[in-house]
Amino acid sequence: MQKITIKKIQKKKNKTPIICLTAYSKAIAQIADKYCDIILVGDSLGMVLYGMKTTRNITIETMILHAKAVKNHSKRSLVVFDMPYKTYTNKLVAYKNAKKVMQLTKCDAIKLEGGKKIVNIIKHLTKKKIPVMGHVGLLPQTAINFKVKGKNLVQKKMILEDAKAVSNSGAFAIIIECVIENLAKLITKSISVPTIGIGASKYCDGQILVIDDMLGLSDYYPKFVKQYSNLKNIIEKSIKNYAMDVRLKKFPYNKNIYK
Ligand code: KIV
Repeated sequence: MQKITIKKIQKKKNKTPIICLTAYSKAIAQIADKYCDIILVGDSLGMVLYGMKTTRNITIETMILHAKAVKNHSKRSLVVFDMPYKTYTNKLVAYKNAKKVMQLTKCDAIKLEGGKKIVNIIKHLTKKKIPVMGHVGLLPQTAINFKVKGKNLVQKKMILEDAKAVSNSGAFAIIIECVIENLAKLITKSISVPTIGIGASKYCDGQILVIDDMLGLSDYYPKFVKQYSNLKNIIEKSIKNYAMDVRLKKFPYNKNIYK
């Protein structure tokens, strides 16, 4: 089993679609590791695992615990740590936090949300040998609304410039979230590093989804999400059957355990 490296990810641009998912636990990491090029320990875990209203409240300490579980059980995929809100307010804060994350979790890279405004932070981290993945378009940590981005020319130009700036400052790949199709296509053609889309069309070099959304474990599903299973139903049926067995005193299940 060969470890996926940043170089291998970059070689896939314009050739082979890059497969990415979020993961927050050992069980999911072990399975995702067989199929994914990149596993992102996303700050979305604040919402999907802890029921927070936004991604802004998750702490770096909680993220580190989940990232350790994921990284310790992924042998092949590149594991990326999503830096939480306000942990990279300037280049010194960013370096202090990113260094701690890399040392404690042994993740392969970190991810930062933002465009031109964070260029000096990306340059500083990459100079210090911390690989950075960018994230442009809809930025959940600072978003005022969750509408599709790039519908008007001003916004389109801004997001394109953000992507170019992030790519030129040393990010090894960029997530593009929730932008119109022709903007995702234009960004992907205009920059030299791979683009990973989430709600950003088939024209990106790869795709990512939040694991709970694609497994059918969430309360709310963005329009672009395809549900590959309905785990909520499966779990409910299992718990219902278990409750019935307890009521009917059908225990122990295996009568031979006392022999
Ligand atoms: O936190 C996250 O899960 C993300 C993905 C939506 C890309 O940033």
